[in-house]
Amino acid sequence: MASEKSVWDSNIVFILAMIGSAVGLGNIWRFPNVLYSNGGGSFMIPYIVSLFLLGISFVLVEYAVGFKFKTSLSKIFFTIKSGLEPVAWFIIFVVFLITTYYVCVVGWDLIYVVLSFTKAWGSNPDLFFTNDVLHASDSLSGIFTIVPWVFISVLAIWVAAWSIIQKDLNAGIGKVSKILLPILLIIVIIIVAFSLTLSGASIGYTQIFTPDWGALTNLNVWLAAFGQIVFSLSLGMSIALTYASYLPESAKLTNNALIVAFSNSGFEVFNAIGIFSILGFMTLTSGIPFNELVTEGTGLAFVVFPKAFNIMGSWASVIGPLFFLCILFAGITSVMALLEVVCFSISEKFNYSRKKSATVVCVVGFCISCLFTTSAGSLLLGIFDAFLNNFALLFGVLLECIIFGWIYNFDKLVEVLNNHSTIQMDPFWKIIIKYILPICIFGLWAQGVYNTILTGDSVSHMVMLALTVVLIVVPIIFTLLPAKNENYYKPIEDD
Ligand code: PFF
Repeated sequence: MASEKSVWDSNIVFILAMIGSAVGLGNIWRFPNVLYSNGGGSFMIPYIVSLFLLGISFVLVEYAVGFKFKTSLSKIFFTIKSGLEPVAWFIIFVVFLITTYYVCVVGWDLIYVVLSFTKAWGSNPDLFFTNDVLHASDSLSGIFTIVPWVFISVLAIWVAAWSIIQKDLNAGIGKVSKILLPILLIIVIIIVAFSLTLSGASIGYTQIFTPDWGALTNLNVWLAAFGQIVFSLSLGMSIALTYASYLPESAKLTNNALIVAFSNSGFEVFNAIGIFSILGFMTLTSGIPFNELVTEGTGLAFVVFPKAFNIMGSWASVIGPLFFLCILFAGITSVMALLEVVCFSISEKFNYSRKKSATVVCVVGFCISCLFTTSAGSLLLGIFDAFLNNFALLFGVLLECIIFGWIYNFDKLVEVLNNHSTIQMDPFWKIIIKYILPICIFGLWAQGVYNTILTGDSVSHMVMLALTVVLIVVPIIFTLLPAKNENYYKPIEDD
């Protein structure tokens, strides 16, 4: 990576890889719950406003920066101001830690792909998930007990991720995106089409279109919409920045950003129709109230959906595996993107080959992931997720807004986009990045800090404190380590 600069084979490959990075677990199991708990149909208003005003605006910053500098995040920050390099390593390290537990959830899903053919979770999927799959303990003492099947499936995901990422950009990420994205789309179309034929489907999907207008006056609903956009578009993780740095000069940046953002949102709304229809079917068949079924994350995928497959009849042995495959493919394409960010900065600074940086990152990542393959894994994973997503990542986005909006000459970014797009940027964009976005991010961040401190127990506070220390120390170490690439400290032309 450090020696030769990779370039995407075509714009389509870039778009597919970008969509693959954005479409992930967040689209499949986070969005339906966020939509339902924040006003149903009327949620689409704050959602679309957040998408345009904040999501696309920030993605455009990442595109412009990546495309302009054509290098890694750490070198870009070093170039803008050498003192900013630790901020870049902070963001990269947050992305790395997120990857270590994200891989684990994809690993759980892999287990469910296998289980789903025979509905091996039995009549009590809830108990099965916590006891038989996770062997979950509710104290940290479980950290010394490895759960073999989780360990094996997490190892399998890491090996798959490594084998993709260590290859050349187009032979690895490019090729996998070209194969998996169309398959993902076909699977979702099949699931949604099937779910609409189920009795009771309308009980579910009408929830998406039934608005609660009162919810619009609630600030938390707006923050939830914004939070979903941040998560779903993977804002601030510098994925867009890294992928855009591989674009050829002829690329149309703004056009690409719009295509990716609309595809990602289109995917999650379309997928939600299927999820809600299946939940509607379950309400009708089992009598469980709809609001008790709409849960977020692992509860929805590994408990509620297996329950739905149990009462679906013979079709469940087709739809079940397809559903879990869909999560698997969406997860893998996001993992590749997260890893690329980390590997690119490491190989740029330390002059590692693509293969070497992929190997080092994946081996260290796997070792950290092992923590989540123990009996205390799900407990730790919840704490890592709350801390890294609510505090650390948002803090990173806030810093990026300040760095690109205030410290760097923002007009240069406007120029880059306008020179490489058929759509011209409005001056309002600058106001969004400099003022509106940081205020919104701060609001979301403060809400996250407040909730986590309020709801967390002493164990989670202890783990979060340890993570804070690590997140300060590791970026400083990476900054102080001397670069092995002689070009690393050379200024990049920036006119
Ligand atoms: N946008 C992807 C998703 O929705 O799952 C990828 C991602 C987002 C991964 C946020 C991790 C994360 F914390």
